[in-house]
Amino acid sequence: MDHKLAEEMIELAIEQLKYAYTPYSGFKVGAALLTKRGKLYTGCNIENAAYSPTNCAERTAFFKAVSEGEREFSAICIVGGKDGVLTEYTAPCGVCRQVMMEFCDPDSFQIILGTGKEQYEIFTLKELLPRGFGPGNLS
Ligand code: THU
Repeated sequence: MDHKLAEEMIELAIEQLKYAYTPYSGFKVGAALLTKRGKLYTGCNIENAAYSPTNCAERTAFFKAVSEGEREFSAICIVGGKDGVLTEYTAPCGVCRQVMMEFCDPDSFQIILGTGKEQYEIFTLKELLPRGFGPGNLS
């Protein structure tokens, strides 16, 4: 992953924090998802009074993209923090890792965790979801 692109994705993910709907946790998350063709889709977390219908920022980005015909992805950037203040990396929850497993190659899909444009680390999906269960298991 080129540093300039990582910076662009972090900037875009941070911009999404303002849209996060978090009346219950106050924990705001933003995501920027890159398709293999180079298009970026954004997402924020959207909470719900019944709690469990809450959608994470990563899944919002994936579902927006897939609902518009995208199926191939190369990277996602995730930022988050209480009241939108970025102090630590926000790693994707297990459900989001599983959604990534559906559409992404675990060896090459890059997950960028950042707290700012100059502070980030990149992991593959395989590193965050070792021995994941995916479409290949059913074929
Ligand atoms: N959340 C995300 O959006 N992404 C993550 O990777 C972790 C958790 C959201 C869900 C909920 O709105 C809030 O953060 C607290 O769990």
